Amino acid sequence: MTMVMELRESFTSSPAGERRLLERAVAGRYRIAALISRGGMGAIYRAWETGLERPVAIKLLAPARARDPDERGRFRREARILASLAHRNVIPVLGTGETGDAVWFAMPYHTVTLADRIRAGKRLPPDVVRDLLIGLADALAYSHERGVTHRDLKAENILLDEEGHPVLCDFGVAILASSDHSRAEIVKGYGTPEYMAPEQLLGTPECDGRQDLYALGVLGFRMLTGRFPFEGNAEQIRAAHVTRDVPAVAAHAADVPPDLAAALDRCLMRNAQDRWSGAATLREALRARTARPSGVVTRLVRRLLSRSLPQAAALL
Ligand SMILES: Nc1ncnc2c1ncn2[C@@H]1O[C@H](COP(=O)(O)OP(=O)(O)OP(=O)(O)O)[C@@H](O)[C@H]1O
Ligand SMILES: [Mg+2]
Repeated sequence: MTMVMELRESFTSSPAGERRLLERAVAGRYRIAALISRGGMGAIYRAWETGLERPVAIKLLAPARARDPDERGRFRREARILASLAHRNVIPVLGTGETGDAVWFAMPYHTVTLADRIRAGKRLPPDVVRDLLIGLADALAYSHERGVTHRDLKAENILLDEEGHPVLCDFGVAILASSDHSRAEIVKGYGTPEYMAPEQLLGTPECDGRQDLYALGVLGFRMLTGRFPFEGNAEQIRAAHVTRDVPAVAAHAADVPPDLAAALDRCLMRNAQDRWSGAATLREALRARTARPSGVVTRLVRRLLSRSLPQAAALL
């Protein structure tokens, strides 16, 4: 190992080295505050944008992966997909950069994810669930119209803004209908077992935005019933999605309004052709029964979802 390589290894192979690498790459623009999460692809850091005095989240590709052109390409693609989408329920990208092995992009920082708010065995009120689903269906309709399929919709990939509105993030395995490279990845079966549509698990080449509707159905099922449609180990869950019909929402939560339960049951059909034809149709179906005094639900959502929101700036 040459001196230069040794230096590079020690710089990037430890968490502290990784952080220093990012600090140097973004110096003068962002001040790194803390590690938020470390996933398969890289890490998310909380940071402070010094010029504009606002909190941001920075997603960094794992430095070791940054040396692989395919990984680097996929990471760039995530940033570009986000940059091509402007929707209040989709996280925007604020900036991006590549300095040696430091490949990153910045986004607005949100303190909580939907996963922080849904705990095993706990159920959310149907009106709250309906509003969350409407926002997410709108984000999906918008993305699908632009040829983007998310493919990893789940509670951990949904941030909540200060109003309690959902903000979809992590387009790391999203595919673009217009890209051959993207389509080639369909067969690889990326995703999270609990949320994966049968056609996604089977790697069917024609799988499209309707797999996101299935995942949205799983999320709704989870929020309303307190459990996933199929539970067990990853292997058992995968097999169940492919071979069994998802139980009706009403079988686990009898008090859910019938139209909401039926909307989710239709998202969760094993055969994609039996689901909603698109996210916009689902959104309209969910909206049809929302004749409530305006503001009531927003206040309820806020109370439930934003209860412990600390002041972001105070953390930095
Ligand atoms: N903009 C943000 N503000 C605050 N937290 C965020 C933000 N983006 C992501 N996070 C947090 O970081 C976690 C991981 O982010 P993301 O899913 O984009 O990364 P990933 O590398 O794909 O990780 P994983 O493999 O865990 O999915 C999220 O679940 C969330 O908790
Ligand atoms: Mg994620």
